[in-house]
Amino acid sequence: MIFLAKAAEIPDGARKLIQVNGISVALFHHEGRFYALNNACPHRQGPLIRGVLESWGEGPVCAVRCPMHGWKFDLATGDSHGRPGNATVYPLIRQNDELYIEL
Ligand code: FES
Repeated sequence: MIFLAKAAEIPDGARKLIQVNGISVALFHHEGRFYALNNACPHRQGPLIRGVLESWGEGPVCAVRCPMHGWKFDLATGDSHGRPGNATVYPLIRQNDELYIEL
């Protein structure tokens, strides 16, 4: 379990890029939940931290669209809904105000 950030440092609606063990982790705080994804898009390593948060169709906003070529990934699972690659999502553990991930 690796320390990622203090939850209070990332208010709802914010995001932060964090380097952990040589990996760039894109941390999103969206509507009360935190999501940690590998920042490198599986298509051509676009920076997911700069992506736009969107929904799948009419559903709630729960995905990030890569700013490079528009692939979209579920924030919780990394699922790309049919693209050739999925984003890597890291399990997040919250202990009081501290966020940890499993790599
Ligand atoms: S690098 Fe992300 S869609 Fe191409």
